[in-house]
Amino acid sequence: MCGIIGYAGPREAQEVLLDGLRRLEYRGYDSAGLAIVGSSLKVFKDKGEISKLSSSMPQLRGHLGVGHTRWATCGKPSQQNAHPFLDCTGQMAVVHNGIIENHLALRKKLIDEGHVFTSETDTEVLVHLLEKHYKGDLHAALREALKEVKGTYAVVAIRTDGRELVAARKENPLVIGLGVGENIVASDVTAMLNYTNKALYIMDGETVVLGPSKVTIYDVDGRTVHRDPSIITWTVEDAKKGGFEHYMLKEIFEQPTAIHNSLLESLDELESGTLMIDHDAPSIKLVACGTSYHASMVGKYIIEALAKIPTTVELASEYRYSPGTGEGPLTVLLTQSGETADTLAAAREARRRGCPTLAVTNVVGSTIAREVDRVFYTKAGPEIGVAATKTYTTQLMAMYLLGMRLAQMRRAMGRDEIRELTSELRGMPRYIGKVLDRAHEVEAATDMLVPARDVFFLGRNINYPTMLEGALKLKEISYIHAEGYAAGELKHGPLALLDASTPVVAACVKDHTYEKMLANISEVAARDSPILAIGLEGDADLAAVADSTVSVPKVNPILSPVPLTVMVQLIAYYTARKRGCPIDKPRNLAKSVTVD
Ligand code: AGP
Repeated sequence: MCGIIGYAGPREAQEVLLDGLRRLEYRGYDSAGLAIVGSSLKVFKDKGEISKLSSSMPQLRGHLGVGHTRWATCGKPSQQNAHPFLDCTGQMAVVHNGIIENHLALRKKLIDEGHVFTSETDTEVLVHLLEKHYKGDLHAALREALKEVKGTYAVVAIRTDGRELVAARKENPLVIGLGVGENIVASDVTAMLNYTNKALYIMDGETVVLGPSKVTIYDVDGRTVHRDPSIITWTVEDAKKGGFEHYMLKEIFEQPTAIHNSLLESLDELESGTLMIDHDAPSIKLVACGTSYHASMVGKYIIEALAKIPTTVELASEYRYSPGTGEGPLTVLLTQSGETADTLAAAREARRRGCPTLAVTNVVGSTIAREVDRVFYTKAGPEIGVAATKTYTTQLMAMYLLGMRLAQMRRAMGRDEIRELTSELRGMPRYIGKVLDRAHEVEAATDMLVPARDVFFLGRNINYPTMLEGALKLKEISYIHAEGYAAGELKHGPLALLDASTPVVAACVKDHTYEKMLANISEVAARDSPILAIGLEGDADLAAVADSTVSVPKVNPILSPVPLTVMVQLIAYYTARKRGCPIDKPRNLAKSVTVD
């Protein structure tokens, strides 16, 4: 996700900010910039790498400043959309992480009041709100501005005549580094470890005034807050991973936030009938590769169940070479990177065939966006581990949203039904949190998989693709041969491979396939295969047939792929870790596959 750094102290701010930005690079970014208060307020920002920015920048003298690395979510990566943003007078600069949900309404109001905007971003409304509310006190202006804002933020602002910066946080990390005669604010401690190991974590709703020798924190009601600093013992490398051993684990744990962000504005757009598409479709085709293909398979179940529209799924690498018949279905291309060569070629082929196209991607400005009619962006933030985790569960969110949107257009679901499902979706970050709370139980349960040469993942119905995804995760990061199978297919071949040395991971939720799934698990048990079952909390019948059980909270069966996926991610992760594998960079694999 985006990175923030702010500095007040005796050093040249430019050096500290550029150093901090370099240390925040690991978070992923597409543009960067900084603003420094010297004889006047100067801003330098650009698309692309920090090394390019720093080499093209003149020496700027000044001891107060803010810097930012941007991962585009609202507006493409460009010089204009890079942070910091200036107000109309050029006296204040703002950097921001998060999403301003009501930015369109605020922008309109501010334009009516005479403010001139220079970017497509949601963030820019913040600096104009500051300008509007500024009456000689930047902190007071920030507090007033934030009263008008709906959304999430870590925000830092400076003024040309000030010696202090002001900051605020809501659902986006912000930490203060306390130095001697100097202080730093940043989105994580990596940016400050060169200068101090004393950190003050800012909590939701708090605002901060930070100068070279004083930091004051205020609570929601404006009362000052006393907080003792924490001493950071991490190295820079530890800090990049937020204390997690691997990026993959960090990204698994980021899923509640990623899901929350991906739903945020979209549920409002669904409510107002403006989400993703504006035409009903007689049929849908979902096209993707790898993990995104599994999300498409789950998508087929969702769309058919909710919208009752015939849906097919194709591998992008096959679709391009298939004959292609019939009327052009709405062709939805799922690709987290937006750069997968086969999916890009499939998008071109779909358009050649006259199909309307919609891309679901996590990267604003990626190539796929130029190849399709419409784009829906998931908001998982950058994913560094090669194994897709949070980008997958946010793709699932896109599938629920698309299913509901189609159902809404053809009245396959009533308003109340849609409302009920969206409220369950809003609860998803909480359910995922409960799964993550049990990570240590999952870790213990993976002992049976560690020595295996082969593992089977079994599921049925909407969780058949979940188990294909589990098998893919396990094989790519642990190097154990794993196969996902529809449990009903077992007796048509793979049963011959089962014995005491071949563990089976089975998903069993209480939907209409429950009894059949229990019977399939018993068939496996009869061949002495060790069974690790994933079921719903309190399922004694399942526990009775499995050697080990891990459970997820009870959710509507159609939403069960989400917590179950988190479970299979943890299973794969802990198995690979016990085998000592290079989890974030598995051999022979790349994060985005740009060759076909
Ligand atoms: C899964 O963990 C992999 N990273 C891989 O299967 C990936 O999903 C596939 O290469 C497609 O990538 P995309 O979503 O960026 O198109």
